[in-house]
Amino acid sequence: MKVSVSYLSSIFDKKNTIRLIDKSSADFIHVDLMDGKFVPKNNFEIKNVLNDLKDTKKPLDIHLMVLNPKRYIDDLSKLNPEYITIHLESNNIEENIKLIKSKNIKVGISIKPNTDISYLEPYYNEIDLILVMTVEPGAGGQRFLFDMLKKVEDLNNIRNNNGYKYLISVDGGINEYTAYKVKKSGGDILVSGSFICHHEYFDERINLLRK
Ligand code: DX5
Ligand code: ZN
Repeated sequence: MKVSVSYLSSIFDKKNTIRLIDKSSADFIHVDLMDGKFVPKNNFEIKNVLNDLKDTKKPLDIHLMVLNPKRYIDDLSKLNPEYITIHLESNNIEENIKLIKSKNIKVGISIKPNTDISYLEPYYNEIDLILVMTVEPGAGGQRFLFDMLKKVEDLNNIRNNNGYKYLISVDGGINEYTAYKVKKSGGDILVSGSFICHHEYFDERINLLRK
């Protein structure tokens, strides 16, 4: 299992949290960006994001919880991220998939808890990652929605039966127990925020998720 760590909610300030994730054994830094429209909270200005992450070494896994991803993709591509994930419920999906790919960045699509996986069907062949939300997007520290495990199982079966290449990432409410459930269901990447960043020693917590 790969682990992608979100710095959205932490006992350390943002700068130190990013530094601690960067020097941890995490596979990715998960960058949660919210515009105040797609979700109620607004947590970024693009110039601050570029500044916050400019010296990091780990691959970036950017999660855009925004209504209009297009306006951010050019700037974010300067960070040379591994993934940019947009929401299936956001605007101009097809155009944005193309735009992200044109920059040689891997593209992910995320689905909110109430969105059925059948809406992903047109994109299975085109995308590198599916980010299954196991909480309502918008905040860290929420409870894992166990019903979402069925989506992970189904996406894993669809992939195995058709030879699609997408990875399955799972975001929200990850802890030791839910991580085990995700692994059993066929997930590839665990996105975790508070389970890791509300503790002093990030690597100890990351190891618990990998077990
Ligand atoms: C939720 C974010 C998540 C969140 C994960 O809107 O997309 O990435 O920060 O945090 P935890 O692990 O605390 O649920
Ligand atoms: Zn996220």
